[in-house]
Amino acid sequence: EQYKQEMQAFEAHTPDLVEAFRIKYLGTKGLVKTVMGEMKNVPVEQKKAFGQVLNEFKEFAEQRYALLKEHAGEQTDTGTSAKDITLPGDLFPVGTRHPLNLVKNQIISIFRRLGFAVAEGPEIEDDWHNFGAMNLPEDHPARDMQDTFYINQNPDWLLRTHTSSVQARVMENQKPPIRVICPGRVYRNETISARAHCFFHQVEGLYIDENVSFADLKQTLYFFVQEMFGQHVKVRFRPSYFPFTEPSAEMDISCQICGGEGCNICKHTGWVEILGSGMVHPKVLENFGIDSTKYTGFAFGMGVERITQLKYQVNDLRLYSQNDVRFLKQFTGVI
Ligand code: PHE
Repeated sequence: EQYKQEMQAFEAHTPDLVEAFRIKYLGTKGLVKTVMGEMKNVPVEQKKAFGQVLNEFKEFAEQRYALLKEHAGEQTDTGTSAKDITLPGDLFPVGTRHPLNLVKNQIISIFRRLGFAVAEGPEIEDDWHNFGAMNLPEDHPARDMQDTFYINQNPDWLLRTHTSSVQARVMENQKPPIRVICPGRVYRNETISARAHCFFHQVEGLYIDENVSFADLKQTLYFFVQEMFGQHVKVRFRPSYFPFTEPSAEMDISCQICGGEGCNICKHTGWVEILGSGMVHPKVLENFGIDSTKYTGFAFGMGVERITQLKYQVNDLRLYSQNDVRFLKQFTGVI
């Protein structure tokens, strides 16, 4: 019984200690063998009873050994363990920010500094917010400019074709002064290629207050491109047409920015279009009960993919949605 207690108390956390246990109790010169050797000194009439006790003792020792062997190594990092816990751990692979998110965040932070707040709206829109309120009545030819995805169940539902729909949602809920930017995904039914996709991203801007002028629009956008691309970037405004702004202009950026060569969006004119803009059409203001004799405003909508392409020399739009890690990994460490 005394030896049994001793064995019970024997702690063996490592294979070495388990082996020490084996040698001490079960080895050729171990305790079990030694006690067995006493058999010859036992009187004949007690041999049977003594044998039983011995067998039981041997079994106990073997079971204990098996148990120690099974658990050895489970707690190796305690006490006499040989593990070096100061070694650096294995690197856990972490993801990277998607380039479109990087650029979207940069755009947001630039406009935040000018006092713009972020507003969002739904991607599934109704005809009114996407078109009607933006001064595109039902049979307006400009609707064809944007190939719309309609949702079958309800002809009034569609996937928004531009973030201008968020302008409508903001004007519906806020009174001037209004100063918001609206980042989001938009959809157009276009054949997918290096230069077009059926969805892309825009950041819309809307500023409505008393005495907002076209000069404010230009200055705001100049500030934006300089913050985004540097002080020396060249831009130009080109007269354009949008039903929801009057006058309207598109802003182009000089191809120097993308190094010209290897860029497939310059169309060899030396300029790349990056946004549409203009003074909010009085009709749009009136649609939301905003007095157009008191208030004026400007709005703009820029393509996030386009800006990202220029910033990081990405020349195929499809890369943004293929999620190829070889592409995504290149943005490691960019914050
Ligand atoms: N919604 C226009 C487009 O998607 C861009 C735009 C926004 C133009 C706001 C003027 C004012 O092309």
